[in-house]
Amino acid sequence: MSTPREHIPVVILPDHDAIAEAVAQEIIAYIQAQAAQKKKAVLGLATGSTPIGVYQKLVESHRRGMSFRHVITFNLDEYYPMSSDSLQSYQRYMHEYLFDHLDIPQDQVFIPTGDVPRDQVAMHCTWYEECIKQAGGIGIQVLGIGRTGHIGFNEPGSLPDTRTRLIRLDEITRKDAAADFFGEENVPLEAITMGVGTILDAQRILLIATGEHKAHIIKRAVEGEVSPQVAASYLQRHPNVTFYVDPAAGRELTRIKTPWLAEDPVDWTPTLAQRAVLWLCEQTNKPILHLQRRDYNEHHLYTLLETQPDVDALNKHVFEQIRAKIRERRDLFTGKRCVCFSPHPDDDVISMGGTLLHLAARENDITLAYMTSGNLAVFDADVLRQLDFIQLTLRDLQCAHQQFDSIADTIRTFLATKQPAQVDIPEIQAIKTNIRRSEAIAGAGTVGIPSHKTRFLDLPFYQTGQVKKNPIGEDDIRIILDLLNEVQPDVVFVAGDLSDPHGTHRMCKDAIERALQRDPRPRPEIWLYRGAWQEWEIDEADVFVPLSYDELSRKIQAIFKHESQKDVAMFPGAYDDREFWERVQDRNTATARLLDRLGLPQYYAIEAFVID
Ligand code: F6R
Repeated sequence: MSTPREHIPVVILPDHDAIAEAVAQEIIAYIQAQAAQKKKAVLGLATGSTPIGVYQKLVESHRRGMSFRHVITFNLDEYYPMSSDSLQSYQRYMHEYLFDHLDIPQDQVFIPTGDVPRDQVAMHCTWYEECIKQAGGIGIQVLGIGRTGHIGFNEPGSLPDTRTRLIRLDEITRKDAAADFFGEENVPLEAITMGVGTILDAQRILLIATGEHKAHIIKRAVEGEVSPQVAASYLQRHPNVTFYVDPAAGRELTRIKTPWLAEDPVDWTPTLAQRAVLWLCEQTNKPILHLQRRDYNEHHLYTLLETQPDVDALNKHVFEQIRAKIRERRDLFTGKRCVCFSPHPDDDVISMGGTLLHLAARENDITLAYMTSGNLAVFDADVLRQLDFIQLTLRDLQCAHQQFDSIADTIRTFLATKQPAQVDIPEIQAIKTNIRRSEAIAGAGTVGIPSHKTRFLDLPFYQTGQVKKNPIGEDDIRIILDLLNEVQPDVVFVAGDLSDPHGTHRMCKDAIERALQRDPRPRPEIWLYRGAWQEWEIDEADVFVPLSYDELSRKIQAIFKHESQKDVAMFPGAYDDREFWERVQDRNTATARLLDRLGLPQYYAIEAFVID
């Protein structure tokens, strides 16, 4: 339910799948209602990662017998310039995810064309608007939202009456698209998009957003003022719009983040009470035990005071709760069988290198399971360097080198003419895989885990050679289950990131969860860690593992072993130019500083975990 602070109705559903179901059901109901009146249904459609689940549901409904023959579709946008058969074109996306699996007649599908000559673009846009008008206007418009607040590609500065036109893409949007294009430099500078006015003309608008990286812009669009700086804020003026978000994308909304500032009465759960006290420390710049009754009263927290006998009891209670989360090396478990699942071959040390160091020293039996090969993120130049290394070594050591020389020739010829996003030949994929494997083994050794405890699962869902991955399948789950059977772990470490740029961490977590559900043994303890993109909030975390200066330095040494990801990573994620080790250093020392400011011991650095 929305609150008075929210100027757009927002529905928070548990996950992506529930949202896809709700949106698909509304679309299906609309199509059926139109069909009952012998009318066509006109849909406005979006691309990107967000609506894929909706399209899968629509395809499933067609397989169950639903007809889409009387549907007309208009897509929001297309990159410019863009040939329709290109890997990144929205034409291709729409056919792959939707149109190839439905019975919509070809002439009822409209997508802006990315390969019209520049001098005909304006005419093309006018024609597109005319087609929408002739179809009777859009009945339901599906939208995603960019981190700039764009809907369609209406970037900051777009006015409310804009129509379909050529626009220049914002820098953040181009960074977000960089992974799909194998580098920001390959992302087109422009796009053709329906205007804000075109979108606002739709009778009904459904905007979907999932993931923490959308949380700030959702709050801005829903609670902020209407402004050309955030095109989605114009949706506040539409009479029939609903935002569907998951808890991660909704987390910055006032009613979720600081419900004591929203109008409604607050249900003070222990977690919420803890969050409120930490928030109050931040607002007043005071440690927990210095907070006074006046601070609570002045910051809308008087009802929280009523939950404890007095202010000192409340302060002490929260202080003790946080202090109890700290586990120094001597407090960590010992002699247990552990599996640390690492989505890519460096997430283990990036995210929990310090804790691994402690756990190894505490004589736990740790298996490091690298879930994907990570070979997509290795630069071609590094392959060429390795070729030189192998060939020089084979010659110097007088080993038979003819067979390898011919492979090296094949590789060099391929790379000389390789196009952006072209899938590597198997020989190159193998070398890239081994570059990352050897780095992972070296990294593990640095935190005290021997090479025979490293396992490379090479999950098949990742092995497309492209940024776009296959869904998690039986084979992926079976491989994980086999490992669980073999090791029989007491404790399992899993990446709990929701904001990695290409979704691989989310998929890996999902695959582990599905394998654990099938495992008949008692569920092991699950520790969720976070990596290069984000950290657990103090109130969310269940465990803080302190690191000294030397321990953090050792962890950074382990990250340095991942040479192919150093200096410049291929998929660093948008909007952060720091190297992975720099982010780790900043993040781990920042968590320690936060605890210090709350009045807890002054550690040098801290890794945080949630126990699931
Ligand atoms: C796509 C579009 C964009 C996306 C937005 C979110 O047709 O118009 O507005 O909806 O950039 O993209 P994802 O879903 O990839 O986060």
